[in-house]
Amino acid sequence: SVALQRYRDATAAGKMNPLAEQEAWEEHQIGKATLTFASKNKKQISGDHQFVFEDQIDFIKASVMDGENTIDDEESTEREKSTAALEEERKTLPIYPYRDELLKAVHDHQILIIVGETGSGKTTQIPQYLHEAGYTMRGKVGCTQPRRVAAMSVAARVSQEMGVKLGHEVGYSIRFEDCTSEKTLVKYMTDGMLLREFLGDPELASYSVVMVDEAHERTLSTDILFGLVKDIARFRLDLKLLITSATLDAEKFSDYFDSAPIFKIPGRRYPVDIHYTKAPEADYLDAAIVSVLQIHATKPCGDILVFFTGQEEIETAEEILKHRTRGLGTKIADLIICPIYANLPTELQAKIFEPTPEGARKVVLATNIAETSLTIDGIKYVIDPGFCKMKSYNPRIGMESLLVAPISKASANQRAGRSGRTGPGKCFRLYTAYSYHNELEDNTLPEIQRTNLASVVLTLKSLGINDLLNFDFMDGPPCEALLKALELLFALGALNKLGELTKVGRRMAEFPLDPMLSKMIVASEKYECSDEIISIAAMLSIGNSIFYCPKEKRVHAYNARMNFHTGNVGDHIALLKVYNSWKETNYSTQWCYENYIQVRKMKRARDVRDQLEGLLKRVEIEVTSSPNVEAIKKAITSGFFPHSARLQKNGCYRTVKHPQIVHIHPSSGLAQVIPTPRWVLYHELALTTKEYMRQVTELKPKWLLEIAPHYYQLKDVDDRSGFPTIL
Ligand code: CDP
Ligand code: MG
Repeated sequence: SVALQRYRDATAAGKMNPLAEQEAWEEHQIGKATLTFASKNKKQISGDHQFVFEDQIDFIKASVMDGENTIDDEESTEREKSTAALEEERKTLPIYPYRDELLKAVHDHQILIIVGETGSGKTTQIPQYLHEAGYTMRGKVGCTQPRRVAAMSVAARVSQEMGVKLGHEVGYSIRFEDCTSEKTLVKYMTDGMLLREFLGDPELASYSVVMVDEAHERTLSTDILFGLVKDIARFRLDLKLLITSATLDAEKFSDYFDSAPIFKIPGRRYPVDIHYTKAPEADYLDAAIVSVLQIHATKPCGDILVFFTGQEEIETAEEILKHRTRGLGTKIADLIICPIYANLPTELQAKIFEPTPEGARKVVLATNIAETSLTIDGIKYVIDPGFCKMKSYNPRIGMESLLVAPISKASANQRAGRSGRTGPGKCFRLYTAYSYHNELEDNTLPEIQRTNLASVVLTLKSLGINDLLNFDFMDGPPCEALLKALELLFALGALNKLGELTKVGRRMAEFPLDPMLSKMIVASEKYECSDEIISIAAMLSIGNSIFYCPKEKRVHAYNARMNFHTGNVGDHIALLKVYNSWKETNYSTQWCYENYIQVRKMKRARDVRDQLEGLLKRVEIEVTSSPNVEAIKKAITSGFFPHSARLQKNGCYRTVKHPQIVHIHPSSGLAQVIPTPRWVLYHELALTTKEYMRQVTELKPKWLLEIAPHYYQLKDVDDRSGFPTIL
């Protein structure tokens, strides 16, 4: 494995500190532990094995996918950026010949289900057609996307096509970033944002059309939106509702929306050859990289799209690919590497849509986002390792984790289809035909059935929807998960015993955050430390990799990081220190470099913090600052008391409610502290090789009784592990 090799290189060079060692090992384990269907009886591939193609039995060609209207002529992928040229390009999209028919159908029916293959022009064209037909004179045309990158990039594209400035007539809105104005007529947004708009505008009065796009993705927010828009369509007869999907099982949507008619945009797809590996791959990352290189070296021109599970994997792949192509010499064309994932800076996102220069080849390293949300022209080869990151939730113990899991057959087919859009394509599946047929599920389970519902339940309650058991779900969530969410919201004080929203709950609902974070913020009023708490909340919201660690400077980076942990203050306070120190330097970029901190992340934290400050005003909480660390920790505990764990004799931790063995993540400032803290509070659990607690702070058990007497009893915090309880 690559990670393991890097680890060996580093240790051989004597440059590794114990923390890095742990991380590299963990990374290695992730690659291995997740291979639930691909690793059976497979020999380990060595780091630099020669990968031999098709004819050398690594891949076997299995079947040909037939499009409905197969076309054989090559299409030019050249792209001009002028509006006039874009105008012409718009006319070549598969949806274009159906423009008038579609507009007529929208005119004739209030609700319409629209089905068309990815890339046919649904997302970019339909809102423009509606605008051209005058719908925006009565209100906005809103279009929801499950992913924020898609919302941003599609809005950028449409503003270009319409020849207007992004944020003016065409804009987008995603959490913590509103790029719209008074003028905005066509608005792209995440499904979660439209859900939040219901709070301020329960009839969506400012919209004339709502298009719930990518409906087949069945994200939690999309599923909830279904229920809400279906309801308002009953009394807002002037509101047009479009449900668009890239898959053909539209009957289900139609049935749900009172037999709404289905408008099918005929597909246009070239044949795709599918190749499977003969035996499962032990390391899909490595196998994917080798496949890219092999295609690059031996196959005719055409861009490559590789699906990875997340940012880290993509960054690793990018690094290795850069390294390996350096030695290829001038005989082989340039390989342009384009990563795309949710956190990629906006400037870099545009790069994937730039046409590939003559004689070069582009390789796009993407997350699931490229499966249906984004269409990249010119892709001829798809490499599909067969995995994606998926949320899973155990309602019994209320635990959510993000796991790398095998994709479904439906996903595998969508991925393969990406290669046949502008010409015949090839898809290389890094798993066996047997796996595909026998081990993959047909469809991915809708998110509502595998996630924590606390946030959505709070939103619905604030919309006055009290009877959740009878909410019109397309597929209901598990009862247990619903009850668990109600239980948590009750424990946090957001609901009363009757399940009604309390004042605390109403305030919490104003924050577009997980209810535990919102509660922490609302509680900061009592402890007079809202200033510190919103900084901590902002830092927690921007993700885990605030620090970076260049290979050759591991020790320096480690020391810089540990500087913020002086006094074993715990990770939350360390995050606060990072933020405040940066603020003291007047938000200096240089300071970030010196401290191995990602300046981009810090800027985002600052944005998020500014918005949280605005929301504090809205719920009438004063911004007050407190030097009292204990007060700050108590405010954190007010939101996160359900996430407490205590040390066991064997050095592990056990969560207090719903006992479960957990460990402090090696990246935590408390990971190597001696003596080990006896009681801790964590922000979240991440399952890799073990169940790890991320962002950990030491806790006094008496706080649990003081802050959550309804949740903890004396017996929970008294001693059963052999350590005397310090009360
Ligand atoms: O929604 P659907 O998958 O049906 O297609 P679309 O996203 O509207 O894409 C239509 C065309 O716009 C494709 O040829 C895309 O490559 C292009 N597009 C683009 O160039 N840049 C974007 N940011 C989004 C789409
Ligand atoms: Mg689309």
